[in-house]
Formats: sequence, structure tokens, C-alpha cells
Amino acid sequence: MNRMLVKEILKSDSVNYDIIIKGWVRTKREAKNFSFLEINDGSTIGNIQVVADESIPGYKEVLEASTGSSVTIEGKVIDSPGKGQRYEIQAQRVRLHGNADPETYPLQKKRHSFEFLREIAHLRPRTNTFGAVMRLRNALSFAIHSFFQEKNFLYVHTPIITASDCEGAGEMFRVTTLDLANIPKNNGAIDYTEDFFGKKTGLTVSGQLEGELIATALGNIYTFGPTFRAENSNTARHLAEFWMVEPEMAFAELPDDMKLAEEFLKYIFRYCLEKCPEDMEFFDARIKPDTISMLEGIITSNFEVLTYTEAIDILKKSGESFEFPVEWGSDMQSEHERYLTEKHLKKPVIVIDYPASIKAFYMKLNDDEKTVRAMDVLVPRIGEIIGGSEREDRYDVLVRRMKESNLNPDEYWWYLDTRKFGSVPHAGFGLGFERTVQFVTGMQNIRDVIPFPRTPKNAEF
Ligand code: 4AD
Ligand code: MG
Repeated sequence: MNRMLVKEILKSDSVNYDIIIKGWVRTKREAKNFSFLEINDGSTIGNIQVVADESIPGYKEVLEASTGSSVTIEGKVIDSPGKGQRYEIQAQRVRLHGNADPETYPLQKKRHSFEFLREIAHLRPRTNTFGAVMRLRNALSFAIHSFFQEKNFLYVHTPIITASDCEGAGEMFRVTTLDLANIPKNNGAIDYTEDFFGKKTGLTVSGQLEGELIATALGNIYTFGPTFRAENSNTARHLAEFWMVEPEMAFAELPDDMKLAEEFLKYIFRYCLEKCPEDMEFFDARIKPDTISMLEGIITSNFEVLTYTEAIDILKKSGESFEFPVEWGSDMQSEHERYLTEKHLKKPVIVIDYPASIKAFYMKLNDDEKTVRAMDVLVPRIGEIIGGSEREDRYDVLVRRMKESNLNPDEYWWYLDTRKFGSVPHAGFGLGFERTVQFVTGMQNIRDVIPFPRTPKNAEF
């Protein structure tokens, strides 16, 4: 007898064959001489119904099993005479591996709040919602690789531990082996020469700088890895540890970057609709109505493009009462981003040419000397999902911008070398992976689209 996944059984056209399944009991109903078990094995959102007659070997174990128990079932797949499912399994043998005490198993009840489930993050993968989210993360990851591989982008690996703060925002987590109870000092300052790497290091906030080094040698590349930010933002869109996808293209300017971002998002959205229809239907029905039609709308429409200056004008004329003031030169807040994409344009928008003063040092300065060739892609409900730019490829301007951003060019000599030797126009962006999962699933809180979220004061699991 072959073991099959529930997904394979539900998709198959054959019937009346013997199989083995392994999974967890979602519900059990006992009748007089038999029991119904709903089994889920994680391969798909659907359960399969098992009918176990009291005459089969192991029926005692069926009686002991309850919601959450793990079981192996041997049986025959048959057309279900009952309503609500096409197939069911007529059990021939049931083995109980581990039971789950109904008195203490926290997932006994059918529905729980997402807040409660965060407190039992070790068990929440067993719920329909988190199963669906995990399968979607898997599909999206695969879609990201397929997109770039089809376009001949090289997947590269950039370091997690680094000495450079790419975004210059001072939000790096420190990595050290210094004895915190006895920190070596030199003239009052911490002596990092004593530390493991002989210098001050932290967890990366972005793989971009190293990505640029490889792109300016090999052409188009992308990274896809974890990034870390010690920003104390307790919002539904911020994590201290999140995954980022960062393509970087040599011989490319801002319009190429915008084109890539739009094509990329459409590709991965389409992939989810095609490859995860059951999970997408679940999100559409149970999490956020119209998720599917919203994604379909995006795939078939064109993104809008606005300059930052135009966006500020629209916001000023909107008549909305925003919590944060709208002023040329200040960073757009989430409420502003959402107004533009959700209310004003009702579709994704790429905002370009932001003031240099609010963007990172590496972005290419426009001729006006006030704005940079930045682009943020904003989508409804999320706001910024992508941040990117054309890079400053002129050595002198880059050094000047570094100094203006209080970075020491000497510490970035290796980065500056790419502008000294065979400099090329190049551009790239970073896609927040969890924000993308949020967008595709309709999930409200970013803590609920990553298995074990890292947020301020929270690293239990
Ligand atoms: O806009 P950001 O900071 O851009 C960069 O890091 C560039 N180095 C990318 C590049 O050009 N290669 O971050 C990129 C994206 C944001 O648009 C957002 O989607 C996501 O990363 N992001 C976060 N997601 C979750 N939690 C956080 N704390 C995030 N910070 C940024
Ligand atoms: Mg950004």
C-alpha cells in the first residue's frame, strides 16, 4: 500500500484503491457502530473524511483519538455517499501515534482570535489559516526564484553579519562576543578591536551594498534572505526580522527598475492565483473578501507613476484630515501612502524622485540637486511594498552624499571602488516579503504571515 498526501487524493480522478495516509485529527464524530474522522495532513487546506467501522483492527485507538491526535490510516478511497465531499476513506486499520488531551489541547475550539494564536505560535501552524499562509509563503518564494531565473538573474548570497549600515538609519542589531559585564574600553569608548571581528558589527538591514558589488561584475543578480531592523515600530507592517528580495541590475536606470518591479509583482501574484487556488479561495472567503478579484485587477492594469512632488500636491488638495502633516520634504507616512493608492488612484502607484534629504545616501542625485532617483511602489492596504532606486554611480557625488549622511567614506572604500573602476549606471529594489504575503492573503497583521515573528519584546518561540 502506498502512502498518499490528502492533496493528491482530492485531486485524483481515480477511486476504489487502497492507500495509507498520515495526519492529524481535526474533528471526530462517534456514531453507534462507527466513527467519522476528519484528517488534515498539511498538504492542502481540505480535510479528508475517514469512516472507521468498529470491526476494524485498532478501533480502540479510534475511540481514544481526539482533535489534534496524530494517526496513520490504511484504507480504501471510495466515492463518498455523504454530502460535502467527493471522496472518503473507508478505514481498514487505524493507528494512533500521539493523542492530544481534550482538556488541555489549546486548539480544541474551531475558531480563535489571531491575538490568541500568536501566544501559541508553536501550535498555530495546525490551523487552517496558518496552514494556508505557510503554503502561500512557499509558493511565493518559488515564484520569486522562477521569475528571476527565467530572466537570467543570478541568485547570490550576501552576508548576514556586516559592518555597514546600508540604510544609514542606525537600526542595526549588534553582533558581539564581548563580555557585556566587562566591556573593554579605550578612552571611555568601547574598544571593538577586542571584539570577534575586530570591529563593530551587526545584523544586516539589507543585502544591497554587497549585491551591487556582484552586479557590477556579473550583471543582473538578486538576493532573497533575512534582514533585521532594530526599529521600535509596533505596527501591523513592521517586523524586526523579515525577508527581503533584492534584485540589482547593471546597465540599468530608474525606468528599467520601475518596469522590472511592475512585471515582477504581476508575475508573483499570478503565480499564487494559479498554483494555490484552494488557499486563495479560503483567504477570499474567510480573511478578506475580494482578495482574488483585487489581485486579478492588478495583474491586468498598469501601475500609475507619480513624482513625489505631484504626490504631495494631491495629498494637500485631498481635503483629508491626516494625523501627520503633509509637507514637501517630509517622509510620507503610511496614511498618506494608503490615501494615494487606495483612495485616489485605487491601484498600485510608483512614486519617484523623492527629496534627497529623506532617502539613503546611495540613491542617484537628480540634476535639480534636491531629489533622488528613488522609487517606492505603493499598494492598497499595505502602502510601501517595494523601495528602490537608481544608484549614484558618480564617485565624487557619492562621496559627497556619504558625508552629508554622516557616513565615513573611508569605511566604505570597497563600495566606492565600484565607482572608481568601470562604474556603470545600475538600479535595484527591495521587496518586503512579509508585506507581500500580507497583500496576497489579505491578512491584517504582519505578525500573522511569518511563522515566528520577531517584534519588540517578543521572541518567545
Ligand atoms: O525601503 P527599504 O528600507 O529599502 C532597502 O532596504 C533597500 N536597500 C532596497 C534596495 O534597493 N535593494 O526596504 C525595502 C522593503 C520595504 O519597501 C518594505 O516592503 C520592507 O522592505 N520593509 C519591511 N518589512 C517588514 N518589516 C520592516 N521593519 C520593514 N522595513 C522594510
Ligand atoms: Mg523604504
